[in-house]
Amino acid sequence: MPIVTVNIRNVAFGGDGVGEVTEQSDGSDLLGITTFVPFTAAGEVISARVTERKKQYLRAKLIDILEPSSSRVTPECEYFENCGGCELQHLSYQGQLDAKFEMIKGSLRAAKFGLDTISKLKPVVQSEPYQYRRRITLHVNAAGHVGFYQANSRSVVSIESCAVANKEINEILPKLKLLGQSLLGRVSSILVETDEVGPVVILKSPYALTSTEINTILTAAKKHLKNVTLLACDKDVGGFGRKILELPLNRQKTLNLQVPAGSFSQVNWEVNLKLLEKVVEVANIKAGVRVLDLFSGAGNFSLPLARAGAEVVAVESDSRLVGFCRENANRCGLAKKLTTLESSVENYLQANKAKSFDVLLADPPRSGLGAMVRELPSAGQLIFISCQLSSFVRDLRMIQDRGWRLETIIPFDMFAQTSYIEILSSFVRNE
Ligand SMILES: C[S@@+](CC[C@H](N)C(=O)[O-])C[C@H]1O[C@@H](n2cnc3c(N)ncnc32)[C@H](O)[C@@H]1O
Repeated sequence: MPIVTVNIRNVAFGGDGVGEVTEQSDGSDLLGITTFVPFTAAGEVISARVTERKKQYLRAKLIDILEPSSSRVTPECEYFENCGGCELQHLSYQGQLDAKFEMIKGSLRAAKFGLDTISKLKPVVQSEPYQYRRRITLHVNAAGHVGFYQANSRSVVSIESCAVANKEINEILPKLKLLGQSLLGRVSSILVETDEVGPVVILKSPYALTSTEINTILTAAKKHLKNVTLLACDKDVGGFGRKILELPLNRQKTLNLQVPAGSFSQVNWEVNLKLLEKVVEVANIKAGVRVLDLFSGAGNFSLPLARAGAEVVAVESDSRLVGFCRENANRCGLAKKLTTLESSVENYLQANKAKSFDVLLADPPRSGLGAMVRELPSAGQLIFISCQLSSFVRDLRMIQDRGWRLETIIPFDMFAQTSYIEILSSFVRNE
């Protein structure tokens, strides 16, 4: 495959640097073709070997940096570029924030949004650059090695530390490494979650395990770990220690969220606290404001909104999270302010078209809202939280087309060192 020189323009959605070919090694006609090169930065001139040739663009592997960016730094992690977890450790933290801001702006421009929308984009709210993650998923390979998947592959990169995971997770990693051989062929992935008390581990097997296998795994786990749940085909088949995590929803720690280990909870708690504060501020909650919280989980947003005085209806499809949301409301003395419904958002919206609220809050999974935008009930304000830039841009168009006026777009760096970003957007009804 030919070697090309590329002037990198910007970092694209997904984290690859993107630019045009300015020189080529052989007679092939590649000059001017858009080329994606991982681990590069805006403003760099690099040489790369072409790995894939498509009609409209090339993919290439970095060989040499001819003119480095001033944002280029030495990555903290020895596994960077091999492990598929992070894409941006070669950029300074400010360089990452700039790249993410430009990434969002570029995606809005590419989708033909005008200055009226782009001017609403605020600077990215910062994270701790490293050691911020409170939950990680590891995989166990056929040799019993424990680690992360390589990018675009099922091959496991064995790790002994993770620069983005918090201290508690890093302390438990050597123990999981020792446990690997006893999990071999039976447990395929390991979820580690932490709260202020410590780590909780979920061992996941894709197979129906015999009682002897369950005993063998749990006996081995007991030698190294304090809190373990074993899931076989998604069923809890045994364990010991804690299965519930408790996380503060405010800085005074006067409002706490309990979540079951293994269900959804936010990965970057410091940034989650900043997000919660912003949601309550943007929603401008006064006593009695009626809020519909769609995709409510265990009440991450519902509880602070109810504590601020809102009357909240929370809709969530995961029955375990619905139960925890109800219990959280009871425990926090907010049962009268929070109605929790177990339902898919799609079904809830179909059945409640005539309802109206003051504020709608929607925090869907990566796939976003899509057709649900058309079914949203009437309200004065919509707060939309997205964890995926491409579905955000699609949903933004649909939301604006349905008569909502964009007030603000605030990105939160929930996933520092990666190309992912959490985006809060707020809308009011057009008069
Ligand atoms: C991104 S999480 C947000 C949860 C919560 N807002 C939080 O911050 O912890 C999305 C949630 O939506 C739930 N969910 C996914 N698809 C759903 C659907 N179609 N209807 C209702 N809830 C759904 C998931 O179980 C998950 O709890």
